Amino acid sequence: MDTIFELIKTRRSVRKYLDKPISRETIETLIEAARWAPSGMNEQPWGFIVAQDKALIKELSDRSIPYIKRLIEKDPKLLRYKRRMDVKDFSIFYHAPCVIIVLGRKDSFAYEDGCAMAAQNMMLSARSMNIGTCWIGMMNVLDKDEWFRRKFEIPDNYTVVAPIAIGYFDSKDAPQIERKPVEFLKYF
Ligand SMILES: Cc1cc2nc3c(=O)[nH]c(=O)nc-3n(C[C@H](O)[C@H](O)[C@H](O)COP(=O)(O)O)c2cc1C
Repeated sequence: MDTIFELIKTRRSVRKYLDKPISRETIETLIEAARWAPSGMNEQPWGFIVAQDKALIKELSDRSIPYIKRLIEKDPKLLRYKRRMDVKDFSIFYHAPCVIIVLGRKDSFAYEDGCAMAAQNMMLSARSMNIGTCWIGMMNVLDKDEWFRRKFEIPDNYTVVAPIAIGYFDSKDAPQIERKPVEFLKYF
């Protein structure tokens, strides 16, 4: 992969992964990329959970689905996601072999912005290694779930910001998504 612009333009949210593990070294590289993200007042407001255990990733998904269904009932905008929730073996992580959850330290300045920067650094770095990612906002529903917080030993001052599914993919499964022209743009 050549330039950063090429990386930015060819990163796509990947929703079909190969059953091939991500090495510890690669995960460490992704977290190192996240660590170098900018953050308000350089507070570096992030923490990370790395999940690679298949059964645990499945449990994260299975426990998220009932919460997501309740959200769908309340918000008509989400209705288009309703059917997939009942598909047998549906995983909100699309069966990715690795999930890294970026957690934000709530007492830090603008922690959500810093964590989103860290997540994007990870996603672009993954792209540079031909590894696919998808930000799974749906998983935020577990943030207050007692099982989730206890299982992953999450301190009270941390909150879920960016759950990222990560895995190798077949390039024929990479979606092509166009961008609309910018609606509001003015030069002065
Ligand atoms: C905050 C945020 C939450 C997202 N949540 C989900 C999600 O729960 N499930 C999913 O499949 N994609 C999710 N996405 C991915 C978007 O759907 C995707 O980025 C968008 O459609 C543009 O496609 P692209 O990433 O391939 O350019 C999320 C993206 C962001 C930034």
